[in-house]
Amino acid sequence: MAETLPPYFNIDPDQALSHLGGPADTKGFAEIARACSRGRADLASRGLEANGGRQLRLFSTWEITRYLIPVAQAHFRRVLKANPDLPQGRSEGRGSAKWFSLDEVLRLRAHFGQQGSRAKNYLPYRPAGLPAKILAVANFKGGVGKTSTAAHLAMSAALDGYRVLVVDLDSQGSMTSIFGGRVADEWGTVFPLLARHHAEYLRGENQRRLDRGETPLPLDDTLAEALKIRAPDLVQKTHWPNIDLIGAQLNLYWAEFQVPVWRMQGRGWKLWDALSEVLAADGILDAYDLVLLDTPPALGYLTINGLAAADILLVPMGASFLEFDSTGRFFDMLATTFGSIEEAENLAARALGRGELAFQWDAVRALVTRYDSTQQAELAMLIQTYLGPTLSPHRQDFTALIGQASEQVQGIYEADYRDFNRETYARGRETFDTTYAAVKQLLIGAWRRDELAARAAAE
Ligand SMILES: Nc1ncnc2c1ncn2[C@@H]1O[C@H](COP(=O)(O)OP(=O)(O)O)[C@@H](O)[C@H]1O
Ligand SMILES: [Mg+2]
Repeated sequence: MAETLPPYFNIDPDQALSHLGGPADTKGFAEIARACSRGRADLASRGLEANGGRQLRLFSTWEITRYLIPVAQAHFRRVLKANPDLPQGRSEGRGSAKWFSLDEVLRLRAHFGQQGSRAKNYLPYRPAGLPAKILAVANFKGGVGKTSTAAHLAMSAALDGYRVLVVDLDSQGSMTSIFGGRVADEWGTVFPLLARHHAEYLRGENQRRLDRGETPLPLDDTLAEALKIRAPDLVQKTHWPNIDLIGAQLNLYWAEFQVPVWRMQGRGWKLWDALSEVLAADGILDAYDLVLLDTPPALGYLTINGLAAADILLVPMGASFLEFDSTGRFFDMLATTFGSIEEAENLAARALGRGELAFQWDAVRALVTRYDSTQQAELAMLIQTYLGPTLSPHRQDFTALIGQASEQVQGIYEADYRDFNRETYARGRETFDTTYAAVKQLLIGAWRRDELAARAAAE
């Protein structure tokens, strides 16, 4: 029997030409974009929009007492019965189990935190008077699990009772879709915050120019507009009661072109400080406990801003040769980039007898993600040997629970355990719980260091 040839043989040039269509041009792109936009509107009108009316699931007594407020179920029921003002939960379908919204869980946690015998275990640690910690997830390779890790960390910290702000620095906006954010253009992203930081620098610079009798530099419309915007203006609520979002959208990419132009206009503008200074000045570090930055797969200006703002840096990577190799290069780029900023700044600082700039992070950890113990154990061991304490000790397992999540359910914490075999669920959840535990340990350790330093300084 004659086998049919593979499809790439016997292609007739004239037929190929007739299928080809005319050459493509810029107008063609605009037409495609318009077609997509019409299609998108149509999908949305049919209720097929990815984020249409997203709602967080309910939490059962079992899950609450197992994962969120560690008390015996019987004790939990007794406390609810004795306090009719507390949320009592509702029954769902068959069975007598009671279900609670996360808002209700947070109220219950506050109650147990005040009344419980081991009260301090129910409320997450945060030293009074100290700012929120900023955690950035970065690696210049795409697909290594940056966004998944950041989203799961945001959710586990929220379940743990922390107030979380997620800032999407990736113009792809994956994090923004996970949290159902809506961003019309770059004015709904961090772009105006960076612009404002530059505009404020220019205003200061202009004052100095006027004092010297020089003509001031003009502030264009963008900069003038940005001066009116504060970080809270950009914050959106999400379907999680204690996770807020500053979203991203394709236009945010414009920042990568605009920032270097601003820097040319004002050589003294410390562009790397923009995000961290604006977040601090606008009260974000008091309003939240944890600020999570998801970054694009590049070491551009947005990532540099995110990294400079971060207290804790997490670098996810798969346990493969290619990802290990490129992660090494990423650290090399970090050394070069931040090293050259320090060098240039300190040349001037030394000349003027000012303090020197030295970037500092509370902790930097690489993190093995999407780990498959049947295939990658040897490589992971080797990576561990070379990275030592820089590698977070826990490997985040590959879990089908993530890949299969639908558009309405993002990751393990939004999934309803009744949809899975209990053991599969417990294993999938455990790997992200352990990732969070390792990060929480860094967070608490860093806060504690600051707390002790503040106390020593006050004595
Ligand atoms: N632990 C995991 N188990 C299974 N799939 C994962 C896991 N972590 C991430 N993924 C999948 O890998 C892909 C890339 O992850 P993502 O977080 O978007 O990476 P990045 O932000 O670095 O580009 C996504 O399809 C995501 O669903
Ligand atoms: Mg991503």
